[in-house]
Amino acid sequence: MIKISPSILSADFANLERDIHRIESADYVHVDVMDGLFVPNISIGIPVVQCIRPVTRLPLDVHLMIDRPVRYVEQFCDAGADLVTVHVEADTEENIHAAIRAVRAKGKRPGVVIKPKTPAEAVLPFLDEVDLILVMTVEPGFGGQKFMADMMPKVSAIRRWIDQRRPECELEVDGGVDAVTCKTCIEAGANVLVAGSAVYKADDIPARIAQLRG
Ligand code: DX5
Ligand code: ZN
Repeated sequence: MIKISPSILSADFANLERDIHRIESADYVHVDVMDGLFVPNISIGIPVVQCIRPVTRLPLDVHLMIDRPVRYVEQFCDAGADLVTVHVEADTEENIHAAIRAVRAKGKRPGVVIKPKTPAEAVLPFLDEVDLILVMTVEPGFGGQKFMADMMPKVSAIRRWIDQRRPECELEVDGGVDAVTCKTCIEAGANVLVAGSAVYKADDIPARIAQLRG
């Protein structure tokens, strides 16, 4: 079963509660946190996670595009994050392990993310510890970019490793996923699809969420 994680980066932040209720037929709420340092953009952070936690029954899938995420993962967990993903490029391997352990110690689900230029092998040191691996299909920082189909061999390689070593781990893609590219992602082995503009620009959001399931 394919899961959909709509990104609220494409929501209307002045009407965030309304826009979260509009995606109640999805599986997760994808929250893009940007620090203006790891990526060239600034978005939302801990107080917003805290405010949206009580307004939805959906788990919060918090994507940390921040430098040295180990500094903040516990605060995001306490604010109500259910899944917390950290970029492998954002710190040393040792500190990424520490961030994963800190999320687990809070009783939440840790994950790792790789940017388009990062090879699939970069997830291997973390594969046995995480509940989700996220492969970026755009350069992180902005919604509405073009899907990078050349990331699919990475998705397929990681799918094989997950099936061999950790079948309970989810495999997510993020960036440029729409009603056409969702099929490519599913064929490559992804089981969680993030979609921002494809969801929020749709006239009928529940129908679009259903369509993205492939
Ligand atoms: C990009 C973010 C994505 C983004 C996806 O840095 O991580 O989650 O919101 O937006 P779309 O689906 O519009 O590419
Ligand atoms: Zn994201």
